[in-house]
Amino acid sequence: MNKQQLIAGNWKMNGSLEANDALVRALVAGMAGAQCTAAVCVPAAYLAQVQMLKSGSALELGAQDVSQHVQGAYTGEVSAPMLREFGVRYAIVGHSERRQYHGETDALVAEKAKTALAHGITPIVCVGETLAEREAGRTEEVVKRQMAAIIHVNGHCISEICVAYEPVWAIGTGRTATPEQAQQVHALLRKQLAAATPHAERVHILYGGSMNAANAAGLLAQRDIDGGLVGGASLKAADFLQIIASARAA
Ligand code: 13P
Repeated sequence: MNKQQLIAGNWKMNGSLEANDALVRALVAGMAGAQCTAAVCVPAAYLAQVQMLKSGSALELGAQDVSQHVQGAYTGEVSAPMLREFGVRYAIVGHSERRQYHGETDALVAEKAKTALAHGITPIVCVGETLAEREAGRTEEVVKRQMAAIIHVNGHCISEICVAYEPVWAIGTGRTATPEQAQQVHALLRKQLAAATPHAERVHILYGGSMNAANAAGLLAQRDIDGGLVGGASLKAADFLQIIASARAA
């Protein structure tokens, strides 16, 4: 299905008041007339700043995580209703860095996605295999297991989520999956979604992992690649704008 693609930047733990100001102003100025949806997922500390900088533009705001809880004694956590107050439309959940460094499990990631959806935030749920898993021929098994947990917990709401296929070996390494490698996994994920919902074609399945201005067009031309989740290249306005310009309109 031809749908407008989504290009989301994941700033990770980068930025400063000064750097964000320059970056967001350049993005807002440069994306007038963009054919796709574009978003920046910024550190929670900068949500208010970026909300203000992007106001009146088509740039969407995203967070990098969300608590599975709605409120209470959860020191350090940020809730979905809090994110909504800052105009957040997307929240990345289950990024491999959170799975790896913060022990997030498939079940927790699924709960976070559910809480986000319940509060009007579209979760961008990340799945992806490590290099060892790929080399052992386990890619399909791993991404299917990660996806199954999300489907199990989110039931018929599953068509409201976004998925990001991010092979761990391609993140921050400069080593991108080839368009064909990525398409293969995206098709698999689409098939798995189709078994759970009649609206699988509506789901945006993004690719993430060393996507840049030079390789974006090839990846975004694949049938089941509906956009990108961009790390390093989203911190440079010219590069991110180039990726946005490579994306497909509806
Ligand atoms: P890089 O684009 O820096 O490889 O990061 C990808 C990523 O993890 C986006 O969430």
